[in-house]
Amino acid sequence: MSNYHIKHLEEYYKVYRKSVREPEIFWEEIAEEHFSWHKKWDKVLEWDFTKPEIKWFQGAKLNITENCIDRHLRTKGDKTAILFEPNDPNEKAEHISYKQLYERVNQFANVLKDQGIKKGDRVCIYLPMIPELAIALLACARIGAIHSVVFAGFSATALSTRINDSDCRIVITSDGSYRGAKTIDLKGIVDDALVDCPGVKTCLVAKRIHSKITMKEGRDKWLQPLLDNASKNCEPEIMDAEDPLFILYTSGSTGKPKGMVHTTAGYMVYTAYTFKNVFNYKDNDVYWCTADIGWITGHSYIVYGPLANGATTVMFEGVPSYPDFGRFWAIINKHNVNQFYTAPTAIRALAKQSLDLVNQHDLSSLKVLGSVGEPINEEAWHWYNDNIGQKKSPIIDSWWQTETGGIMISPLPYVTPTIPTYATLPLPGIQPCLMNEDALEIKGNQVEGRLCIKYPWPSIARTIWGNHKRYKDTYFSAYDKMYFTGDGALRDAVGYYRITGRVDDVVIVSGHNLGTAPIEDAINEHPAVAESAIVGFPHDIKGNALYGYVILKDVGTDRNHDNLRKEINQIITEHIGPIAKLDKIQFTSGLPKTRSGKIMRRILRKIARNDTKDLGDTSTLLNPEVVQEIMDNALR
Ligand code: WTA
Repeated sequence: MSNYHIKHLEEYYKVYRKSVREPEIFWEEIAEEHFSWHKKWDKVLEWDFTKPEIKWFQGAKLNITENCIDRHLRTKGDKTAILFEPNDPNEKAEHISYKQLYERVNQFANVLKDQGIKKGDRVCIYLPMIPELAIALLACARIGAIHSVVFAGFSATALSTRINDSDCRIVITSDGSYRGAKTIDLKGIVDDALVDCPGVKTCLVAKRIHSKITMKEGRDKWLQPLLDNASKNCEPEIMDAEDPLFILYTSGSTGKPKGMVHTTAGYMVYTAYTFKNVFNYKDNDVYWCTADIGWITGHSYIVYGPLANGATTVMFEGVPSYPDFGRFWAIINKHNVNQFYTAPTAIRALAKQSLDLVNQHDLSSLKVLGSVGEPINEEAWHWYNDNIGQKKSPIIDSWWQTETGGIMISPLPYVTPTIPTYATLPLPGIQPCLMNEDALEIKGNQVEGRLCIKYPWPSIARTIWGNHKRYKDTYFSAYDKMYFTGDGALRDAVGYYRITGRVDDVVIVSGHNLGTAPIEDAINEHPAVAESAIVGFPHDIKGNALYGYVILKDVGTDRNHDNLRKEINQIITEHIGPIAKLDKIQFTSGLPKTRSGKIMRRILRKIARNDTKDLGDTSTLLNPEVVQEIMDNALR
């Protein structure tokens, strides 16, 4: 029996039970039947969560691009692989067939080789959502180089930190990018970043906005002429199953970003399998995920998962509000999109607009609607269901993380009955559990706790680049022999999961994970700032927004506070990027601290949320008087 495509609920339960009872047989069958290998594995799984060490399909040899491209050429060579929709609706969409993708990836791979890039080298990619971005990922994978994509909304400082952390040799960027009516000077940002990156010898520049930029002699090269001269054939590098495929940075609650390392075979098998099932993808469907490839959602469900299934995947360069707030619906109509995958923050922003912007477009091609990145609130769920899906397309509320590589808990469309705000059931192979404060598992249903996973799945990140100890401390130390997600969840009477949100100091703003500590570090560099604490508070479009409590060094001076607020946000923009700006900044004389000097964030969160009736246990507070002061001056 093939377990590859689940079609009924009873089948789901059957497959799920098998995946728990015989995980190795389960994944082995999927790997055997649906992928091409140069050599099969010696062992399906070897793992030890205490070290932690996880190896899938050890001994196997493969190249992921052969699975994503070459093997489709015979039957799907002329099928569109990537459908590029430009920022400007008047610019022609580009249909890149599998055959063309094969040639362009090979040319790009040969260019990288000519620049001296070889297996295991790290390549930083800082590009907007243009075809070169997807092609660059695949070109790296073709030659066994490890890509590290940095979202092209991050600042120069954030970019240089990431380049240096993984010691990238080369940066791939563009002259600039379009973002609605605006253009962004990407190359300028890269130039600023590279001042601090002595290891980068080469910068390849794609031409997109035709702006005037400076090219540094010896370092910067235009990409197109190199591609034009490169051969359309490039033998794939044969990789080991556990060779790293990419690094992708995610925020942590403390310190610098974590470079999550994903490896080749397990990641391929899991993203392909989940793509097929979670989106119920059928051969001639057009699938569109609105994420940016700078995030994990784009890696797994714009590039690798869809292409491994021979799908047509849409890549959209622009923003949902340009030229008007009907753009998403116009694109669905224009390309007859069948599966649409987006984030709650986008849904909430679009739900605020006139329904005429939806109703002007024919959305009848839609079959599946997806949501990812943060909890979807009930109102947004219903708006999406009623107006976009017209109550005919199931909503797939998919829970997962950069670290998990692929979707973990999600309904399967036309299989799992959905309930608003519930991510519902674990996918085959995923064994979630809830843990209490005493690190004991909470059994049974109608319970709430911290979400952990008991057993490895093929696409779990294997380490943090250059810091295995941090990997262990962050994910495998809170609970014995478990992967800890950092999220809270509840399990209802029928065993459905509902994700309630982060339980650590990560705040999800507009679907972007932001650690509060790095933002505090940035603010504290302002000469007028003595100390700061940042917490999240609910925001009706962004999901959460950031509230900063800031102690100034010199309260008595006549500094204009609004100017200071601007300067603080400017520093954050420079260190991290505009996505991390604070919505509210309250200046205060102190912060509530415990006797051991720890900031009591729990109290600050309550004040930011305007939920101060019961502040909880304050007996360990060193300075209770400051709480009253903060409450009296809280910003509403
Ligand atoms: C949150 C994005 C509720 C969660 C793929 C997780 C969600 C973090 C959902 C990972 C969902 C993601 N419901 N919360 N459907 N999906 N999250 O690494 O807190 O950018 O830990 O990966 O987003 O964010 P990341």
